[in-house]
Amino acid sequence: MSKNVIASSAVRARKLSADEIAEIEHEMKLYPDKRAVGLEALKIVQKHQGWVSDESLLAIAKYLNIPIADLEGVATFFNLVYRHPVGKNVILFCNSVSCWIMGCDGLREHIKKEVGIDFGETSEDDEFTMIPVPCLGDCDRAPVMMVGSDLHRNLTSEKIDQIISRYRNK
Ligand code: FES
Repeated sequence: MSKNVIASSAVRARKLSADEIAEIEHEMKLYPDKRAVGLEALKIVQKHQGWVSDESLLAIAKYLNIPIADLEGVATFFNLVYRHPVGKNVILFCNSVSCWIMGCDGLREHIKKEVGIDFGETSEDDEFTMIPVPCLGDCDRAPVMMVGSDLHRNLTSEKIDQIISRYRNK
């Protein structure tokens, strides 16, 4: 999705849910500027919807009364704001230097072979999406990746197989 799509009059804002509005209102009490609430509002909508569609982006911009382009800029800058549907489990795969030295490239290949996805892709069964991220702060136990909010360390191909099957069967 792009700014062009949002610029299209065919895209209509969706209605924010009562829960989304309550949580955005809560953030508005914590931040002096509505623009500053933008990122939090994107995260709230993503938590409820799984990702941030153009319709959701429009709804947030309208609700906060801020320009859509500003909000789109925030959403594009933070690669953990998903602007496309993602799988049930998002793999945040660290490819920074320590993980690279410890062989993350080989593990990425392994995931490609076993799950059928590379960076930015979602598996055919919609179970997994893999996204590259910078250092996850656990370099002494590299290679490292997160699945959802769980950190997995000292990864090997065998460990990845176990992790994948655990999440697949959840
Ligand atoms: S480089 Fe991967 S956790 Fe720091």
